[in-house]
Amino acid sequence: MIEIRTAANHDKPAVWQIIKSVISGGDTYVFAPDSTEEEMTAYWFSAEKHVYVAELDGEIVGTMWLKSNQPGLGSHVGNAAYMVSPNAKGKGVGRKMAELSIKEARRLGFKSIQFNFVVKSNEIAVKLWQSVGFQIIGEIPNAFRHAKNGMTNAYIMYRKL
Ligand SMILES: CC(C)(COP(=O)(O)OP(=O)(O)OC[C@H]1O[C@@H](n2cnc3c(N)ncnc32)[C@H](O)[C@@H]1OP(=O)(O)O)[C@@H](O)C(=O)NCCC(=O)NCCS
Repeated sequence: MIEIRTAANHDKPAVWQIIKSVISGGDTYVFAPDSTEEEMTAYWFSAEKHVYVAELDGEIVGTMWLKSNQPGLGSHVGNAAYMVSPNAKGKGVGRKMAELSIKEARRLGFKSIQFNFVVKSNEIAVKLWQSVGFQIIGEIPNAFRHAKNGMTNAYIMYRKL
């Protein structure tokens, strides 16, 4: 059973384990694979973010956050990030987080969501976001130094709420 709830302070070590395994691949996020727990926990749980964890049968296997993409007059556009533990991929956690984030973003008053950086070769993510209503609205050439493939483009994806 998948349950998604607001993250608490005591979830930080479990969230770090997920972040650590995701960024170690150097294939989906810009964070340096050797980023420290302190750096990444501070980033993931920074004050402006609404952070959630996903439990699969009681174990934390996913995390996501929502925040404004821009301050002030751009703050009605949301932004989000999602990570699922490599051990728990393909079990529906990502889809459930994507769906919940859309509901939560509406509840928080956002009018749309923009993803600033979806690595083009991350096909599972691109397809998942498209399947929940996001469109590719831009492509940034050579935005990402993929650990295996080198220079890779990134998409900007967007969905109205
Ligand atoms: C992208 C990510 C969040 C998806 O999470 P997930 O829990 O694996 O996703 P789900 O199990 O809900 O699967 C989503 C869809 O992808 C498909 N999928 C998942 N793994 C797959 C695989 N290895 N090969 C082919 N399709 C796959 C599923 O079939 C599913 O489609 P469906 O619902 O139509 O059947 C997760 O893989 C992840 O954390 N990746 C690393 C970080 C990342 O890329 N974050 C997003 C950055 S934009």
